[in-house]
Amino acid sequence: SSAPTSANSAVAKTATAIVNIASLVTNDPSLGDHTPLGLIQDAAVVIDGDRVVWVGESSKAPATDNRVDAGGRAVIPGFVDSHSHLVFAGDRTAEFNARMSGEAYKAGGIRTTVAATRAASDEDLERNLTRYLDEALRQGTTTFETKSGYGLTVEDEARALRIAAAHTDEVTYLGAHIVSPDYADDPAAYVDLVTGGMLDACAPYARWIDVFCEKGAFDGDQARAILAAGKVKGLHPRVHANQLTYGPGVQLAVELDAASADHCTHLTDEDVDALANSSTVATLLPGAEFSTRAQWPNARRLLDAGATVALSTDCNPGSSFTSSVPFCIALAVRDMGMTPNEALWSATAGGAAALRRTDVGRLTPGARADLTVLDAPSHVHLAYRPGVPLVTEVWRKGVRVV
Ligand code: NIG
Ligand code: FE
Repeated sequence: SSAPTSANSAVAKTATAIVNIASLVTNDPSLGDHTPLGLIQDAAVVIDGDRVVWVGESSKAPATDNRVDAGGRAVIPGFVDSHSHLVFAGDRTAEFNARMSGEAYKAGGIRTTVAATRAASDEDLERNLTRYLDEALRQGTTTFETKSGYGLTVEDEARALRIAAAHTDEVTYLGAHIVSPDYADDPAAYVDLVTGGMLDACAPYARWIDVFCEKGAFDGDQARAILAAGKVKGLHPRVHANQLTYGPGVQLAVELDAASADHCTHLTDEDVDALANSSTVATLLPGAEFSTRAQWPNARRLLDAGATVALSTDCNPGSSFTSSVPFCIALAVRDMGMTPNEALWSATAGGAAALRRTDVGRLTPGARADLTVLDAPSHVHLAYRPGVPLVTEVWRKGVRVV
């Protein structure tokens, strides 16, 4: 296989070349093996500043002052985790124990975390967030989205987003996680708050707006009103859709051109068709099915229909307390009908698509130099060797951070 270098341009002598890469995932189908992964064997990546400036065969790497030997390991783009809920306090060990003794997962468990989060100081929330971000980074995640949704008052939602915005550009306003316990008797008034004063306070910190469209949370009409109000304020929609049962979430996501419909566990043929014929990504979150003992989302069905699939952690203390994308990849391959190549693509380029980003999730000239070195000869080992910490180096914006 040849690695065209047409997109490569003059490389400064001061750049850094990572050479002797056994297999490099570029996610550019014009490169290497011309599959969606654009896999190059015996490869090199050259980084200048925070960008990739050259990729190709190691033997053809331009001469640079700095060379790093990957030692025959695999290199992949940093994971793009497009769905997490990391601004929270406390945990839900008791609820998990009860579930593993046979109880069902219910949206109402969110209230436990809301109480703990409201009671926490800004410093506690920030410390908790950075702890899970560091954990994710050590497992190869270089871009992540995170949400509010455990405050459910104007002040608590706004502070969650302010704290999140100090750590990522991908911030999502999820005031509509569940109806606030303070409005249990008047859900309509809570929807008015979410689309009114709370939205005004939160919009400056967020890029996205999300709704948990589900029994026990918000119905289709409430979700439509909330997402439409967000759009007016410049927030783009994404939707928690069809997680616990069939429902209107996926169709609503497509109707509103949401960047992503997340969960997609219970889908009709019409839902699958709607996703396949849209630019809304189906984001699958196998950590949630694992931790709630629910049926797996059917990735194979979505892929065969032509939908774009992303794979993310949904890291949160209730339904999916894992920050590990490699774990999710292993589940998706074992139980959701994905090939190792598809799962790797979905956890990198797929996550980028779910965030409508083209600068991350790929390793090609011009992309952000976010990459992971695996202690393995190829990315396939992420599913083949589940639970093994294969991430040995992480580079973010051209700097080695792990
Ligand atoms: O994505 N489904 C809604 N929200 C989260 C769960 C939140 C929680 O249980 O605390 C999810 O699974
Ligand atoms: Fe979620």
